[in-house]
Amino acid sequence: MRFIITSAFFFLVLFSCAAAYDPLDPTGNVTIRWDIMAWTADGYTATVTLYNFQTFRHIMDPGWTIGWAWAKKEIIWSMIGAQATEQGDCSKFKANIPHCCKRTPAVVDLMPNAPYNQQFANCCKGGEVSAWGQDPAASISQFQITVGLAGTSNKTVKLPKNFTLLGPGPGYTCGPAKLVPSTKFLTPDGRRKTQALMTWNVTCTYSQFLARKNPNCCVSFSSFYNQEITPCPTCACGCQNNNTCINRDSKILKVVEANNSKRENTSLLQCTHHMCPIRVHWHVKVNYKEYWRVKIAIVNFNYRMNYSVWSLVIQHPNLNNVTQVFSFNYQPLIPYESINDTGMFYGMKYYNDVLMQAGPLGNVQSEVLLQKDLNTFTFKQGWAFPRKVYFNGDECMLPPPDTYPFLPNSVHGSVISFLTLTSAWFSLLIFLS
Ligand SMILES: *[C@@H]1O[C@H](CO)[C@@H](O)[C@H](O)[C@H]1NC(C)=O
Ligand SMILES: *[C@@H]1O[C@H](CO)[C@@H](O)[C@H](O)[C@H]1NC(C)=O
Ligand SMILES: *[C@@H]1O[C@H](CO)[C@@H](O)[C@H](O)[C@H]1NC(C)=O
Ligand SMILES: *[C@@H]1O[C@H](CO)[C@@H](O)[C@H](O)[C@H]1NC(C)=O
Ligand SMILES: *[C@@H]1O[C@H](CO)[C@@H](O)[C@H](O)[C@H]1NC(C)=O
Ligand SMILES: *[C@@H]1O[C@H](CO)[C@@H](O)[C@H](O)[C@H]1NC(C)=O
Ligand SMILES: *[C@@H]1O[C@H](CO)[C@@H](O)[C@H](O)[C@H]1NC(C)=O
Ligand SMILES: *[C@@H]1O[C@H](CO)[C@@H](O)[C@H](O)[C@H]1NC(C)=O
Ligand SMILES: *[C@@H]1O[C@H](CO)[C@@H](O)[C@H](O)[C@H]1NC(C)=O
Ligand SMILES: *[C@@H]1O[C@H](CO)[C@@H](O)[C@H](O)[C@H]1NC(C)=O
Repeated sequence: MRFIITSAFFFLVLFSCAAAYDPLDPTGNVTIRWDIMAWTADGYTATVTLYNFQTFRHIMDPGWTIGWAWAKKEIIWSMIGAQATEQGDCSKFKANIPHCCKRTPAVVDLMPNAPYNQQFANCCKGGEVSAWGQDPAASISQFQITVGLAGTSNKTVKLPKNFTLLGPGPGYTCGPAKLVPSTKFLTPDGRRKTQALMTWNVTCTYSQFLARKNPNCCVSFSSFYNQEITPCPTCACGCQNNNTCINRDSKILKVVEANNSKRENTSLLQCTHHMCPIRVHWHVKVNYKEYWRVKIAIVNFNYRMNYSVWSLVIQHPNLNNVTQVFSFNYQPLIPYESINDTGMFYGMKYYNDVLMQAGPLGNVQSEVLLQKDLNTFTFKQGWAFPRKVYFNGDECMLPPPDTYPFLPNSVHGSVISFLTLTSAWFSLLIFLS
């Protein structure tokens, strides 16, 4: 019985991933908008804007790469605020050499130290873009592109095809470019509107299923009422690379730290039974009359990664009544108007917004005080533990329900399958709605 229910649950999880639909962020997407601002002798100049409309998934170092296929024989004469990664074969050109002649250009952001005359509004952040729900002002990235051998009117310009987005790894799927009503811009004094000559949008959505074969993080539990710690599942993040991990007390660690070449290989893990770069721990710490207190810790096991601007999304029915969060920022997320059970935790600027590489400093933690709703609150049936956990926008693997810390005198086992059943039906409801 339990087996069937559990498989139904996993089936639902897989199914919802494959559909590139995230129940905790149902409208989340990255929109790339092209606004043609001027026609030129042989083409146009456009402003390209990337909006990260995802509530909690940012684009982190080493940043985005946008690619597309030209529909005709277009070339890129020049760019401001970004650059094509390869120039391609421009041997046909004699006097002016284009910036890029490739049929399928790939474009990346500039670094913050780019010369002033190559900078553009909202550019030059090394491709890092915040999530809309975390820092809306930093959730935009822009550049300007001057295209040649293109059309010079809205009748002859052909929209680029086959857009791709790496953010920074795989996981995003982009739809076709769609002509939309021209964008209107307000002048700085707010007294006049101008408008683009032609505008098209491309919408890209994320699927963790496409991004990686294994989860990237796992969750462990503990409680004041049971001495046993529920560890992360073994090989939660895949054990294929377990011969390349290094032990915590290994002598080569000093060399590795001295030799931090981040771009070459972005992960070098500490050996653990779960082999995850990130572990999230949820500890049910104190029970008061009207409140209860949870301690949350995030531990980094990757020697080659500082997670700057990390985020943690948690789903738990009591998050509708968060009284205080001690050393993280907290924001409720309300993807469905009637359900307020999900929230985002993220670091405080200059205090714990960077989760440092594995080692003594590689963790961040906080405590959360929640007010009980006495009608629903219980320590039974694993109710006090989160239903879903996401780190940096990727879902973490939870321990199997029958290993949750149980109340000392509860008949553990039968109640647990009830929990599984409930969560399976809950996912089903969300999935269908
Ligand atoms: C993209 O996200 C925005 C903001 O959430 C939303 O308004 C828009 O409808 C989304 N677009 C698509 C195609 O889902
Ligand atoms: C092109 O521009 C003309 C006039 O500006 C407008 O009437 C027409 O609808 C536009 N066509 C397209 C495909 O945008
Ligand atoms: C776009 O991709 C499709 C399928 O991969 C391919 O058949 C088509 O030739 C591509 N278009 C261009 C312009 O490269
Ligand atoms: C195109 O994208 C812009 C910016 O994301 C958005 O405001 C606009 O609503 C989109 N248009 C359509 C028709 O989706
Ligand atoms: C590595 O993973 C394999 C299975 O993929 C397992 O048999 C082996 O015990 C693991 N080794 C360590 C050190 O965890
Ligand atoms: C850093 O790595 C290179 C090769 O990857 C190696 O030759 C060099 O000795 C290493 N440096 C240190 C300090 O270990
Ligand atoms: C990076 O990791 C891959 C496998 O994950 C390996 O094949 C490659 O040799 C590594 N590169 C370096 C420079 O260590
Ligand atoms: C992480 O940050 C620390 C302190 O800023 C730095 O010393 C270290 O080299 C960084 N590690 C990586 C992998 O970037
Ligand atoms: C959702 O819960 C938070 C507390 O966790 C509360 O501040 C917020 O007002 C609630 N929002 C709604 C719409 O109920
Ligand atoms: C929080 O809990 C108290 C006590 O149960 C209740 O009166 C209040 O309405 C709850 N607040 C929300 C936002 O649900």
